[in-house]
Amino acid sequence: MTDCPSGSDAAKAAKRAPTIVDIINAKSVRRLVMLTAYDAPGARIAEAGGVDMILVGDSVAMAVLGRPDTNSMTMDEMVHHARAVSSAARGSLVVADMPFLSYEGGPQDALRNAGRFFREAGIRAVKLEGGRQILPQVRALTGAGIPVMGHLGLTPQRAAMFGGFKAQARTAEAAHNLLRDALALQDAGCFSIVLECVPAPVAAAVTARLRVPTIGIGAGPDCDGQVLVFHDLLGLSDFHPRFAKVYADLARIASDAVGAYARDVREGSFPAPEHAFSIPPEEWEKWQALLRADSAADDGE
Ligand code: KIV
Repeated sequence: MTDCPSGSDAAKAAKRAPTIVDIINAKSVRRLVMLTAYDAPGARIAEAGGVDMILVGDSVAMAVLGRPDTNSMTMDEMVHHARAVSSAARGSLVVADMPFLSYEGGPQDALRNAGRFFREAGIRAVKLEGGRQILPQVRALTGAGIPVMGHLGLTPQRAAMFGGFKAQARTAEAAHNLLRDALALQDAGCFSIVLECVPAPVAAAVTARLRVPTIGIGAGPDCDGQVLVFHDLLGLSDFHPRFAKVYADLARIASDAVGAYARDVREGSFPAPEHAFSIPPEEWEKWQALLRADSAADDGE
């Protein structure tokens, strides 16, 4: 560890985190890049790659905690991950997912739990899954000054109602409902809306009708931005969703590195002298004298 900031630390310090106004103003000007992260190293990697926003997604349940879905995530667990991300993030807007049943009970639940992200984890925006059925919660949060990102289409917390993780808005009626949900969320104050697993032409039409940016995942190229799960992008997932692109096979790189470490330990080539610590010669001599004195005393007994 050094006290001197590295070049990339200095660059990070120089980049101001975008505000929700910056995110809204980016619409039709430049594409927005969002990535999930669940801990401090993940946040640093995401920012070094230049993302605009980091999502502390409840996908942590599946990506990191080995669970079958996201619905077991608790507020305590989400706050724990959100605090780790926000401790490292400097130049991106960090958004935290409100977990299943942390807001469905009504505006008071939503305010209390979103407030925990603000007070305990330094988070400045939250994401809620759902459309018109959660408008009172969205209005309460935005009215209290808490920026909200919406999430429509495949909303994994409601996957049981869809019969699993399936693409949504594939009928005229469902597409129209999605548009009405998106417009209602925008009117309730959402600063952007995730569209997940929605046909590309539907996502494009919704995007064109909104003033706030859409962030797509499995929603085609015409959203205002894209989001991916960190572990999907880096080849660290067991699960390979069709919409994800693997940009690096880190699982392979990491297991090769662990294999090299195991080999070095077994062959005795790790640790090498440069990995060890020394003791001053005079201290070593003093200790040898102590050992000799101890064994002389033992012999005398
Ligand atoms: O939890 C999550 O990572 C998400 C994204 C997939 C949008 O909600």
